[in-house]
Amino acid sequence: MIENTIKKMIIIGAGGHGKVVADIAKKNQYEVIGFIDDNENKKKNGKYDVIGTIKDIDMYLNSDDDKYSNLYFFVAIGNNQMREEISKLLMKKGIIQPTLIHPSAVIDDSVSIGEGTVVMANVVINADTNVGSACIINTSSSVDHDCIIEDYVHISPGVHIAGTVKVGKRTWIGIGTSIINNISLNEYVIIGAGSSVIKDIDDKGIYFGIPAKKNYG
Ligand SMILES: CC(C)(COP(=O)(O)OP(=O)(O)OC[C@H]1O[C@@H](n2cnc3c(N)ncnc32)[C@H](O)[C@@H]1OP(=O)(O)O)[C@@H](O)C(=O)NCCC(=O)NCCS
Repeated sequence: MIENTIKKMIIIGAGGHGKVVADIAKKNQYEVIGFIDDNENKKKNGKYDVIGTIKDIDMYLNSDDDKYSNLYFFVAIGNNQMREEISKLLMKKGIIQPTLIHPSAVIDDSVSIGEGTVVMANVVINADTNVGSACIINTSSSVDHDCIIEDYVHISPGVHIAGTVKVGKRTWIGIGTSIINNISLNEYVIIGAGSSVIKDIDDKGIYFGIPAKKNYG
């Protein structure tokens, strides 16, 4: 019997972000079987079927059907806390999550990227930067040299991060933001769209504007 070596993928999170992840998975030679989502009303996500909920993971994992052999899962949920929760659930089950990198991304050899992280189209990541697990490095963003991007961070489209910046766990950088070099951002920070960060951010919370300031509203 010829072994079925095609890599299959079920994507968790049937939303717009999931559709983009599906495209990147395909470009990395995965056959996308479908999505699972805890919203049972979702039957389709674009051209893909929604084939179950989180509780069905074990059923697919343990299936004898060749259709589900060589199966991988990927968490494609934009919300950082939810992505962390489900990523940890997969880890508990011993499921290794791949790292997905769009072929157009330019990444230096010295960069390390954790499992379950997606790097989208036209991203640039420069020398000696470390990107953690289950992060989203979204379309056309850049992360320069010597940065530390901790686990469960989302860097939105068009964000530019200069050299030697640290972004703490679960922090979300809004679309089009710029961050100058030698800056450190705490965990659980949200930076609003189009901001410019020019100082360390030590407290959790929402910040936006040019320069970015804490929103006390
Ligand atoms: C920062 C953010 C999270 C705040 O959301 P929110 O708490 O719902 O805030 P609101 O929309 O209620 O806005 C509150 C006030 O802040 C202002 N504000 C919100 N975001 C702002 C931003 N990025 N820059 C400047 N002002 C902003 C609003 O104009 C509003 O001002 P007002 O009270 O004078 O009318 C959101 O506005 C944002 O920028 N999200 C990023 C979205 C993004 O990057 N998406 C990419 C997905 S891939």
